[in-house]
Amino acid sequence: MHYKAPRGTKDILPSETWRWQAVEHKFREVCRLAGFGEIRTPTFEETELFTRSIGEVTDVVSKEMYSFQDRSGRDLTLRPEGTAPVVRAWVENNIGAHGLPSKLFYIGSMYRYERPQAGRYRQFDQFGLEAIGSDDPTLDAEVIALTARFLEQTGAAPFAIRLNSVGTVDSRTLYVEALKGSVEPYLQKLCGSCQTRYEKNPLRMLDCKNPECRALTENVPRLQDYLDEESALHFQRVREALDALGLSYEIDPRLVRGFDYYTRTAFEFTDQALGAQDAICGGGRYDNLVEEIGGPATPAVGMAMGVERLLTVLDSRSAKIGVRPHPVVFVVRLGEKAQVPGLALAARLQELGVPAEMDYGGKSMKAQMKRADKSGARLALLLGDDELASGQVSARDLIAQHQWRLPLQNCAEMIQDYLSTSESGEIEAA
Ligand code: HAM
Repeated sequence: MHYKAPRGTKDILPSETWRWQAVEHKFREVCRLAGFGEIRTPTFEETELFTRSIGEVTDVVSKEMYSFQDRSGRDLTLRPEGTAPVVRAWVENNIGAHGLPSKLFYIGSMYRYERPQAGRYRQFDQFGLEAIGSDDPTLDAEVIALTARFLEQTGAAPFAIRLNSVGTVDSRTLYVEALKGSVEPYLQKLCGSCQTRYEKNPLRMLDCKNPECRALTENVPRLQDYLDEESALHFQRVREALDALGLSYEIDPRLVRGFDYYTRTAFEFTDQALGAQDAICGGGRYDNLVEEIGGPATPAVGMAMGVERLLTVLDSRSAKIGVRPHPVVFVVRLGEKAQVPGLALAARLQELGVPAEMDYGGKSMKAQMKRADKSGARLALLLGDDELASGQVSARDLIAQHQWRLPLQNCAEMIQDYLSTSESGEIEAA
């Protein structure tokens, strides 16, 4: 029997995890500098949390959730996104009592039963930000700017920022009527999905990728023209703040996000390197969500980024982020007697913070040296019968190609010294 990772999931192997760690580290750092604190919520929640917040008619709720009953008959769902859980945790733990807005970030896996393709998985990871408790337009701008800064610092630039305002629920209701009215005469010519969306979730017609639908709906009314005064002013303020920060963006009147909880600001960062699934991240305001799930009326704004997609973009740019871990010292043990002293030497080096590795199974000197060369180690330390008899270790600098002997007694300390004083002796952070 051969088992495989379930469709739409994948293993992330040691040859890649260091890149994940590097972008995670950078994300944490950018968040820390902006005063966002990390929150970790459970991987599953009550199903109703998602149906209420994301909306019954959305794709995610109607066909993509991993829902199940536990052994006590509770209806649970693997989180398809992080915003609703964070808001639930914010209300439940009264996080707002520590002062508003609460600025939170998270890193974690999300689950959606989607059709897998390049950049689309059933389990994927997100970096997310949620700022809960203020409707200040500069907070929207801060979330967008922080996202842009993070992407720039990882090497993902250039990217495109698409911006829109989806207004309030009321302004959207008015707009949807106008949209439906304008589409009605050619409804039969639209694709099957758009015909369903017309009935169930008309705004999503704007998001259809089908070129014929796009051409037909080219001149539909613009959401922006239906914005209430306050939303329009808010949108203007967000744009002014982004302009002042020197961020370029493009207003995309067709940008509507896939969840019902959005109000006012909506944005996406896209990159052509991603192909059809071109969104690196997306987000916006959700001023009604906190109240919707039982908290006090509280405005909020946030963003989430697909980590797999970010790494794809970084690959396409050949961005250098992080350092692939490798040993700095390789201990070559020759003969039976050298096994344990060699192990002790490697252990001592590791204690001192020097990445040190060995080979196992009593292989030949040639095989071990080959492995040392391949490992990327800077130094090889040779320990055999001769060395043990004389209480000395042979050291070989694999880059500078010189060799010397040093006492076994405090070999690790001397090597540490050598590495910190000699040129290119830096021990790269793993
Ligand atoms: P979202 O647009 O559904 O928004 O997802 C955010 C990002 O997650 C996408 O731009 C994409 O990079 C990545 N993503 C989504 N689905 C998949 C998938 N199946 N495979 C790989 N990557 C994927 C949200 O999730 C909102 N919670 C964002 C937000 C936070 N809004 C306010 N606060």
